[in-house]
Amino acid sequence: MSEAANPQSDFTQSVKRIVQAHAAQPGALLPILHAVQEAFGYVSSEALPIIALGLNLSRAEVHGVVSFYHHFRSSPPGRLTVQICRAESCQAMGSRTLQAHAKRSLGVDFNETTANGAVTLLPVYCLGNCACSPAIRVGDKVFGNVDADSFDAIVAELSADAVEVRKMSRGDTHG
Ligand code: FES
Repeated sequence: MSEAANPQSDFTQSVKRIVQAHAAQPGALLPILHAVQEAFGYVSSEALPIIALGLNLSRAEVHGVVSFYHHFRSSPPGRLTVQICRAESCQAMGSRTLQAHAKRSLGVDFNETTANGAVTLLPVYCLGNCACSPAIRVGDKVFGNVDADSFDAIVAELSADAVEVRKMSRGDTHG
């Protein structure tokens, strides 16, 4: 197989380019991890040795940083990400109750993905929607004044949309 047609080689080259773009700056590891997650949705185990080599670190050192920060995912996210604000204004307006409901309703903890791969639940610290606390972001849409019932309705509607978009993008017209 030629290198150009090898997805693994494309992946390696992409990660190498990201590493090279940041390697000269102090504290390059975090910006590199952010850029890798931005590009691929998560920081896969395959990316770790490439990053380690580029920064002259051990793979364990890179892995340690990935696992230390909850922000970094080491497995692919769900088709839809649901973020619940845990910052002060939302806490004062019932975010804790909403968080507990969301975890029960989805059957996952923060930073986990539902078993069907549909939804990843994430904490976030202020969505800039404090006047309408408690706030959540589902995909790229922000919602305010969310309670348990509206949470379930929003997630059900948008996760159905996400599945539909995915099917259409793959040319799959079967139900
Ligand atoms: S504190 Fe939750 S949106 Fe600002």
